Amino acid sequence: MNATLPADLIETLARLLGPRGFTADPADMRPWLTDWRGRITGAAAALLSPVDAAETQAIVRLAARAGVPIVPQGGNTSMVAGATPDASGRALILSTRRMRAIRSLSPEDNVAVAEAGVILSDLHDAAEAQGRRFPLSLAAKGSATIGGLVSTNAGGTQVLRFGTMRALLLGIEAVLPSGELFDGITALRKDNRGYDLRQLLAGAEGTLGIVTAASLRLVPAAAARAVAWAGLDDPRDALALLRRMEGQLGDAIESFEIVPAEALRLVLAHVPGTRAPLEDSHPWNLLIEATAPASAPDPREAITAALAGAIEAGFVRDATVAANEAQADALWKLRESVSEAERVDGIAAKHDVALPVSAMPRFLIEGAREVEQRFPGVRVLAFGHLGDGNVHFNVRAPLGADDRAWLAAEGATISAFVHDLVGSEGGSLSAEHGIGQTKLAEFVRTASPARIGALKAIKAALDPAGIMNPGKLLP
Ligand code: FAD
Ligand code: MLT
Ligand code: ZN
Repeated sequence: MNATLPADLIETLARLLGPRGFTADPADMRPWLTDWRGRITGAAAALLSPVDAAETQAIVRLAARAGVPIVPQGGNTSMVAGATPDASGRALILSTRRMRAIRSLSPEDNVAVAEAGVILSDLHDAAEAQGRRFPLSLAAKGSATIGGLVSTNAGGTQVLRFGTMRALLLGIEAVLPSGELFDGITALRKDNRGYDLRQLLAGAEGTLGIVTAASLRLVPAAAARAVAWAGLDDPRDALALLRRMEGQLGDAIESFEIVPAEALRLVLAHVPGTRAPLEDSHPWNLLIEATAPASAPDPREAITAALAGAIEAGFVRDATVAANEAQADALWKLRESVSEAERVDGIAAKHDVALPVSAMPRFLIEGAREVEQRFPGVRVLAFGHLGDGNVHFNVRAPLGADDRAWLAAEGATISAFVHDLVGSEGGSLSAEHGIGQTKLAEFVRTASPARIGALKAIKAALDPAGIMNPGKLLP
């Protein structure tokens, strides 16, 4: 146990939470001390798992009084080590794993109220059982939690149609750094009572309080979906295809994801049970999904016709449309396994960049060329949410290099170069993953003093003692 903590704090917490809610055993804590990518390992004085908002309030009050930092943690799938404590060993990890109730799900209001620890795929299943859908999804859906998704304002693969978490968030319940409970759970669609605390806490990465529950917008379940995979030569053709398909299918298109040949190769090499979707390899691939309600024509026909037209027009080389749900899932597995395959392949300098949608196809080609010229031997692998103007622009070590040593030596310079390129086109260095620890230095380097100053003022007002997730998002 860490000697710098007040002697009675750990005992009091252990008594308060009982054996199911408290551990300081290094073996129990170990899996929760390293980020998903395995880049950063921290230390903690204890792992606390409160069962409800009242226990969370009690923990926050005790920690605030002792000036001990709290690191909120959901599924620990952060891509920016946002839920990983620092190395001091003073922090308390507050896990939401025991706050897993879906308090209500109303098809009439199209609203679900889910506690922070609810796993995203569990919410999907619960909504589906009532003929509804929670339209936010991502590859980590089997681990990522509602609290984490709210706190990172997560994006994912349906942003094109439904927006990021903020667009789906109707209300929030959170324990503020003072220990007070902000009860903002609501089914209201309109509510103009001053500053929007719900949206302030969304995307705050645990620095302004602990989200304990959220009310979330649902949409009617889709009666049918069409999932297609297309191979093409040039990402500029992809944008033309998207705009053409929107003309034909309207907002039925929910996902428009890009996967380069190298990412597909890694998936096929490292992920069991995957196979190539098209006969030949193509420099770029698209995964496209459209859905339709029961009264509308089958979207498979519309997507098939649109892709046939695109092949005839010469900007798609080949395409396949899933004939059934098993095939649709197999195509999605290819897309959703890219991060896992990349992780097995080795450590990369990760970037999560946004540009205006129209600028991204050119950036995929010219940005990669500039990086590869400036840092000979490195290999850019960019994939993701092309329809949103957001890709994960990862730079891999030269072949044969020790990737960890290379990242330690070159990573910061490469990231600064990438972010400056993105900045020069009016883009963002964090489209959907947040700032966490791994982007903090670059955020501070590139953000305007006005932006950093305003964020610091908000932080100081709500968390004057600085106990909530210190070292993340803000210096
Ligand atoms: P954690 O990783 O545990 O925490 C994330 C941040 O939120 C931390 O700062 C933490 O302190 C804070 N936090 C967690 N819970 C709370 C709470 N209750 N109250 C206050 N703060 C809290 N992200 C995308 O946006 N789009 C994607 O497409 C996407 N794909 C992914 C694919 C894979 C394979 C993986 C591993 C991750 C992916 N991510 C993606 C990143 C990640 O899944 C999301 O950031 C997700 O929102 C994190 O949820 P979590 O429960 O794991 O949160
Ligand atoms: C994705 O879109 O798959 C992710 O956000 C994960 C990643 O960046 O690796
Ligand atoms: Zn993503």
